[in-house]
Amino acid sequence: MNNKKEINTLLAIDTSCDETSVALTYKTKVLSNIVSSQIKVHKQWGGTVPLLAKREHEKRIDFVIHQAVKQAKINAKRFNLHLKKLLTRTDLSFIDAVAVTYGPGLSIALEVGISKAKQIAKDFNKPLIAVNHMQGHFYSSLAQRLTDQNHTFINKLLPGLGLLFSGGHSEFVLSKRVGEFEIIGSTLDDALGEAFDKIARMLNLGYPGGPIIEELAKTKKGSFKLPVAMQNSGDFNLSFSGLKTAVLYLIRDLKGENRVQPREKRPSYRDGMKPKTNKRNRELDRETIESISSSFQKSAFLSVSLKLEKILQKYPNIKTVFLGGGVISNMAFRKEIRKTTTKVNPNIKIMTPYSKKLFTDNAAMIGVTAFILSKHNKALILKTEKQIKGLERIPNLSVQN
Ligand code: KG4
Ligand code: ZN
Repeated sequence: MNNKKEINTLLAIDTSCDETSVALTYKTKVLSNIVSSQIKVHKQWGGTVPLLAKREHEKRIDFVIHQAVKQAKINAKRFNLHLKKLLTRTDLSFIDAVAVTYGPGLSIALEVGISKAKQIAKDFNKPLIAVNHMQGHFYSSLAQRLTDQNHTFINKLLPGLGLLFSGGHSEFVLSKRVGEFEIIGSTLDDALGEAFDKIARMLNLGYPGGPIIEELAKTKKGSFKLPVAMQNSGDFNLSFSGLKTAVLYLIRDLKGENRVQPREKRPSYRDGMKPKTNKRNRELDRETIESISSSFQKSAFLSVSLKLEKILQKYPNIKTVFLGGGVISNMAFRKEIRKTTTKVNPNIKIMTPYSKKLFTDNAAMIGVTAFILSKHNKALILKTEKQIKGLERIPNLSVQN
């Protein structure tokens, strides 16, 4: 293995949750980004089942790798990239390294990607770059289309503030230098995506809840008053569990659930009958569901933007806001973030991933992150057989590591 070789072309793998994803990246350009979604498998359980996720990753990983390489070759040819060598090789020896997510995520799901990455590194004698999934979301907006001619100098964008909102995380992350991250605020309970999913479940709308609720919220202005948590907490933390409970009570109230019938109508114990609770005596109509969805979004997004405003005021040297994570694909959320940021300082640049696929879990962001960090000598690059073998998953890895 040539230790001095530049790392530009990467095969990246992410199996941190319920998407099996493999990408080929060249510097910050995305040659291919295949995401094989397991939503159909987990849907019936109303959330991700780790054992099923692991099995599905195992079933799909080889095929997804094959698809990623095939698509990369097609794209390289189509855009006539200087990657012609890629077209002439039939194996993976054209890559400079393998990148893989080693945390955070579901333990047994992460393991599938890590084992596969180790095997490829060994088979083709390539270095293995271990990537932090949340750092991946942070840099996801730096991923570029093959046709993009601009060159982004990451150093010029810092200090930057990452707004990372996904199914497992909701955090404000400050980055003063490439590869250095500090969580300055985060949720104390549920992640925002998790709240979307739980509320969708309460309303029997399906899984994942985010896109469904976003769609419903578009049609109606929220008319229900819901709490905006932690407004005066004096820090940059968030909380969504109170809002979730408020929505639960609102739904129950509107349905008339669990309300004991008026006294005079109650059957008598003496008659040997139990008092009935008037359960599910009313289904919610679409208009009400739209209004609940919109009211929920409004409160949730307001609680984020209030903290964002305070952060930008406290750190006036922030040049860029980096957006990443599944919830960021919500247009109303992005609009709110844009409005707040511009209000505080219209010169702050807002970086958003170029496609929806890059918001939710994907491997392209892992390849791009591995490239950026390795260029700045901040990547965790494993070169010897012993180092590669020793890589272990870290399910609760923090973005700060
Ligand atoms: O980043 P991601 O794909 O996975 C994690 O790393 O967790 O985020 C998934 C989460 C889910 O909770 C999903 O409901 C939420 O992102 N989500 C959305 C939208 N699309 C996905 N939340 C709100 N609005 C959306 N359009
Ligand atoms: Zn994620």
